[in-house]
Amino acid sequence: MPRISNLFFRTAVLFLIVGVMMGLQMAISQNHNVIGAHAHVNLLGWVTSAIFGGYYALNPAKAERRLAMVHYAVYTLGVAMMAVALYLLLLGNPAMEPVVAVSALITFAGVLIFAWMVFAPENVTLGRSARIA
Ligand code: HEM
Repeated sequence: MPRISNLFFRTAVLFLIVGVMMGLQMAISQNHNVIGAHAHVNLLGWVTSAIFGGYYALNPAKAERRLAMVHYAVYTLGVAMMAVALYLLLLGNPAMEPVVAVSALITFAGVLIFAWMVFAPENVTLGRSARIA
């Protein structure tokens, strides 16, 4: 498996642990106040990061590009920031509002980098005939 896929999967499973813990906290306390943080950590953190890891495993040429690591760094920073800030906001800290906004924009930048990666040609160093083969 490419290194970037391994990184994405390891990060994804850490987000899953945190997301499930938030779910258990809500279920046990019967207070669903952090539902938004739970949903975002699980879906942006666990599900989406794992999909990114799977994409790079299926596209090893793209996995070797430096942009893949930039994608990982930007996206993971955004989601990790959002996880903490949204959790604290939902616990009743309105000062976290701008941090949530900035983290959402960083996450979006990570998503745009991934979109660029998906639409980029498979292997820019090979000629067109080699790509078709
Ligand atoms: C042991 C694991 C989990 C527990 C105990 C748990 C618990 C909960 C609880 C208590 C709620 C609030 C329900 C409500 O107020 O209506 C919730 C909502 C939610 N959970 Fe989980 N959850 C778990 C795993 C997951 C995972 C793995 C995902 C996604 C991959 C996920 C996605 C969501 C979403 C999207 C909502 C919001 C649903 C809505 O607004 O209708 N959860 N969860």
